[in-house]
Amino acid sequence: MSVPILTIDGPSGAGKGTVATRIASIKGWHFLDSGALYRITAYAALRDGVALDDEEALSRLAAALPVRFEVDPGNGEVRVVLAGENIGDAIRSEEAGNAASKVAALPGVRAALLARQRDFHRAPGLVADGRDMGTVVFPDADTKVFLTASAEERANRRYKQLSDKGISANLRALAEEIAERDARDSQRAVSPLVAAADAVTIDSSDLTIDEVVRKVIGLMDPA
Ligand code: C5P
Repeated sequence: MSVPILTIDGPSGAGKGTVATRIASIKGWHFLDSGALYRITAYAALRDGVALDDEEALSRLAAALPVRFEVDPGNGEVRVVLAGENIGDAIRSEEAGNAASKVAALPGVRAALLARQRDFHRAPGLVADGRDMGTVVFPDADTKVFLTASAEERANRRYKQLSDKGISANLRALAEEIAERDARDSQRAVSPLVAAADAVTIDSSDLTIDEVVRKVIGLMDPA
């Protein structure tokens, strides 16, 4: 039997990461946070002084990223370790997200990260979170979800996430950054953010995480 895949694509702040990790943990499946790979590439570039539009150097960097994802046995959190340094928090900043969306627009970088993403497809199953999981990386996935939410709701959620972590943020500036990132991700020439033709769209604006998780599991295992 082939190893099943669930893809969850959608814009920033729609709740993909939370829903995807919940389902991966319920099912006992692997989890691919593809956005982290773009964030790590951008982080490594900024650290090494590589310009965010130097496609050749960035592609080389992406192809050879010395990154490991380790699960902390204490709290179950995933640590992102780049050349021995835990950069999990550093890559979660808004700045890292924006830098990621710049390097993600470069075809060479996307090509360099493709095989690495497909390597996550292992038994007993995979939940893949990103922008092009159902369209480009895993076009034959068994279940494809496009998870969205209104721009306002996404900005509110990001604001709350940041304040919960004690990081001060400006709601208006966040909303502008989200709109800018959405536009860049949707308008780029390669692998733009778009729902796969066979994806089911779920608008999470008025749904709780649990409700979204139940809906997605219902799509995977219809009663
Ligand atoms: O999902 P996350 O916010 O971590 O992604 C950061 C950026 O990486 C996105 O804004 C997008 O530009 C890029 N990305 C992508 N393709 C993916 C996942 C993320 O282009 N599959």
